[in-house]
Order: sequence, then C-alpha cells, then structure tokens
Amino acid sequence: MRNILALTIFVILQILFIPLAIVGAIWTGYKQIVVSKRLGVSQTAIEIINGRWTMHVFGLRDDDAAAKLAAVLPNTSTLGLWLALFPLYAYSRIAGATRWYPTIAKMGEEKLFNLIMNRTGYFDSIIDKVKDDAEQFVVMGAGFDTRAYNELKKSGLKMFELDQATTQKLKRTYLEKAGIDTTHVTFVETNFSQEDWFNSLVAAGYDATKRTIFLWEGVTLYLGETAVRNTLRTVKANAAEGSIIAADIYAKSFVTGEYDSRMKATMPILDVTDEKLSFGLGMADGAYQQSLTSFATSEGLTIGESYFMGYKTEKGVWVVVVELRV
Ligand SMILES: C[S@@+](CC[C@H](N)C(=O)[O-])C[C@H]1O[C@@H](n2cnc3c(N)ncnc32)[C@H](O)[C@@H]1O
Repeated sequence: MRNILALTIFVILQILFIPLAIVGAIWTGYKQIVVSKRLGVSQTAIEIINGRWTMHVFGLRDDDAAAKLAAVLPNTSTLGLWLALFPLYAYSRIAGATRWYPTIAKMGEEKLFNLIMNRTGYFDSIIDKVKDDAEQFVVMGAGFDTRAYNELKKSGLKMFELDQATTQKLKRTYLEKAGIDTTHVTFVETNFSQEDWFNSLVAAGYDATKRTIFLWEGVTLYLGETAVRNTLRTVKANAAEGSIIAADIYAKSFVTGEYDSRMKATMPILDVTDEKLSFGLGMADGAYQQSLTSFATSEGLTIGESYFMGYKTEKGVWVVVVELRV
C-alpha cells in the first residue's frame, strides 16, 4: 500500500518536475564541468561529493560535512541536485526506502550507477576495520572527501590530506566558509606523478614508524601505470608494518570505455578538466582475482579485504576496492 502510494506520488511529481529536473541537471552539470574548468580544479571530485550529498540527504549514509561543503562549493549546486532528485526523494520518504537512485546494490551486482554508493561503503568498511590499530590517516587525492570531518575525527588519528594545489586550495577555502573545523588536519600539496611527492608529506610531520591508513579512493584510474606503481612503491618503502593502502583499481575495459557505451560517451567531458582515464588492470574472463593478486605481489603487497564490483553481472568485474597490506 505504502509502495503504491509512493509510486503514484512519484509519477505525478516526476511529470510536474520534468522541466525543473532538466534545469537542475543542466545547472549542476554546468557548475561541475565549466566552473571546475574555470577554477582549474577536479570535476571528478565533484561527482563524488554530489554522490555523498545524495546518500546523506536520502538517509543512506551520514555525512554532515559533505552536506555543508556541497552547499557552499562554487562548482556544484545542491539546489540543482534537489530539483533533479526531489521526486525520488519524495518516493523514498513515503515508501521508507530508496528505489532506482540512490541505491546500494548487493555485493557483486553493482552497476555503474551504484559506483559512488557501493564504493563509499566498501571503503568505509575497510577503514572501520583497521582504524583502531592505526595512528595516522593519509587521504591521497582527497578531492572533496569529508571523512576527516565526521565520525573519524573522534578516532584520534593524525590526519593528512594530499591533493593537487588548486583543488586543495579551493577545498580549504570552502571548508572554512562552511564552518567546518580543520585544525586536526594537515594539508599537503602533492602530485603523485612526481618522483619526490612523498617528501612533502614527511616535511609536514608524517611519521614512518606509525601504523597508517593510506586512503587512495578514486585516483588510480587518472594516473599512468608508472605513477600508480611508483606511488605504491613509495608508500610501501615509507610505511610502518601493519599499515594499509585502501584503493580502488579499475578494469581495463572500464578505463577504455569498452565496458559500457555510456562510459565512452562521457569521456570527452573528462578531457575538459584533463582527467582522462588511464590505468586499468585486465579483469576479463573471470581472471580478476588472479590479476589483482599478481599486481599486488609484483609491488610486494598482500591483499586483505577485497570487493570486486560487478562479479555476479553479465559484464563482469569493472572495479575492485581493495585493502593492500604493506
Ligand atoms: C575522483 S577524485 C576523488 C576524490 C576523493 N578521493 C574522493 O573519493 O572523494 C580524484 C582526485 O585525485 C586527485 N588527483 C588526480 N591526479 C592526481 C595527482 N597526480 N596527484 C595528486 N592528486 C591527484 C584530483 O585532484 C582529485 O581530487
């Protein structure tokens, strides 16, 4: 009964909202792509905070800091997101559960539209498992991630956020505008493509004798294989025993766009902010586990938890979220 009522109201609202939803989607997309380009910052990082904002608003995952930050960032629009998503929101409130979007798929059944929701949850669960044994938390390619400003803040972990200069500067400005306390976080400007990127982390107070969680979420796919391997090697060489790197590694078919024609269609948009997809591992024909293992082993890393997204689907695995032990 509740579902029928929710569906009826959803259909009515969706019809009424069509013009508003189009305006909302165009406005949000304009901010993400054009304004990010103008500011010289990552637009893909906006994709993530928009997803986290959506999860928060729909009640799938608490992220107060993401809600506050998204509300003030100049390169996204929470009003635009509301206009695009309000009928789905109304449905979820009446039915008591989300439907179509945003949704968290069952493990192995993830599709592209589940990317941010499922991936975020898998990273959360890896961090949750290891956080009590760690002393430092290094967010590599932090974008507009807000883990450092929510529950994890209470963990007592020494926190570092690493990113390219322009994106990090913008984030810091707007964290302040949003009234979010950042005094417990050390910000370090970094470029993983430069050989000496780790020096600035050390100079900022990183302690190589302390167990550390390195969070590398949504970054490897934008780097070349050499930069990915060098980064892993550098972390391993400078991390205490018991440290982990939580990373997502994409299938080759995903980064080339062969996995889904919609991926190919969005690739020119990624070129606008110079965020072309690059590194991927061969994961076709069920060889995903073997492929990940031989990659990790070749860098002297062992595998802890791993989440192969899409392994139960017809198209197979398109990304893995993995805990790499140093
Ligand atoms: C898709 S965003 C992910 C942001 C964040 N990890 C999250 O999950 O919300 C990719 C981030 O990686 C950063 N990035 C990309 N290439 C980088 C590089 N060579 N050095 C440092 N950061 C880089 C971008 O600036 C951007 O913030």
